[in-house]
Amino acid sequence: MQNPSHIQGVSFAALADEFGTPLYIYDGEKITNQVKTLQEAFSAVPLRIKYATKALSNISILKLIRKAGAGVDAVSIEEVKLGLMAGHPAEGIMYTPSGVGFEEIREAVDLGIMINLDSLPLMEEFGKVYGDSVPACIRINPHIMAGGNLKISTGHKESKFGISIEQLPLILEKVSKYNLQIVGLHIHTGSDILDAEVFLQGGNVLFEAAIQFSGLKFLDFGGGFKVAYKPNDIATDVMEVGKKVGEAFQEFCKRYGRQLELWIEPGKFLVSEAGYLLVKTNLVKESTTVTFVGVDTGLNHLIRPMMYDAYHGVYNLSNSEGKKGKYNIVGYICETDTIAAHRELNEVKAGDLLVIKNAGAYGYSMASNYNSRLRPAEILIWEGKAYQIRRRELFEDLIRNQEILDF
Ligand code: LLP
Repeated sequence: MQNPSHIQGVSFAALADEFGTPLYIYDGEKITNQVKTLQEAFSAVPLRIKYATKALSNISILKLIRKAGAGVDAVSIEEVKLGLMAGHPAEGIMYTPSGVGFEEIREAVDLGIMINLDSLPLMEEFGKVYGDSVPACIRINPHIMAGGNLKISTGHKESKFGISIEQLPLILEKVSKYNLQIVGLHIHTGSDILDAEVFLQGGNVLFEAAIQFSGLKFLDFGGGFKVAYKPNDIATDVMEVGKKVGEAFQEFCKRYGRQLELWIEPGKFLVSEAGYLLVKTNLVKESTTVTFVGVDTGLNHLIRPMMYDAYHGVYNLSNSEGKKGKYNIVGYICETDTIAAHRELNEVKAGDLLVIKNAGAYGYSMASNYNSRLRPAEILIWEGKAYQIRRRELFEDLIRNQEILDF
């Protein structure tokens, strides 16, 4: 359904009554179905899905992901710990750091987690400390410009991520110097990648590098599948990606002489469309040229529209048939936090409940306490029941870590 008022029989309005607004709501069935879709799309290869925890890191979501048969990709030691708490075995977690201190690497290795080495200095230090005793992966920067916008493009020449493919001789030098046990190669070129060709192009870079390593067990293509944001928006055709990349991968495995695993790290694809941010209209303000709808949320809870000019669908839950009007939906933060500009909505009145779509990925996980506001509760709908998987913050949460000086 385009603009649902219920999920699995649970009404959004009832959730607002019970838990208040703003409220993050996740459809667990949608998440597990997305996992299934990817499993189907890549059914011709031995696939491992490593969910990009950063998209939505609630422990119950990580548990659901595990139940659906996927592992996790972590980008901080804290995400590693969340994954472990959710019951993922250490071998189901890969840690892809980005320029972190070595103590964090040590901590992850002690927990039995595979490290994705993302720089030559890290390879050097890792080699000195662990030599051939701890298997690892290497993150390659394939020099591919891809993704929805520059802020979320991570595989181009000027990006800080990974080790440049042009430095492959230096990578190989470190591998042989320390006899490193490299079991995987990884790329992640960006987010919101529409075109299957980009994944193939990335694959070709991986294959050319991989042929130089003798002990590989997997190749990791990263995440980045684009989801639909607007009505009739096109999303990555994962069936096409699965087929094309799968075929190229199997060809490569023949050339390599061994069947490898194919890893992917979807974030948005698994959780973006499964999430809704339910908010209440505080006021409708007519200006000379614009009608503003002021809601009880803002960039503190959903920063994507401001940070990336991201489009999020919005609809009026309280009035699904009324006459249409044009509105700017704005947050309550003391900054210009326009959630949606010049949007057509069924007439909005103060007190109406609005729903912001595609709020599952990088919504709550990027939320903050800016303006000293509290973060919302999170609700998971699973098998027809609503579970509060995180309570709304209280004022006490905001001040908990402060030492108040006695001036
Ligand atoms: N793997 C790695 C190593 C990543 O850095 C990322 C995302 C992913 C996988 C998952 O990418 P996805 O499938 O979700 O596109 N906050 C931005 C997106 C930043 C993505 C950062 N890395 C946004 O809200 O658009």
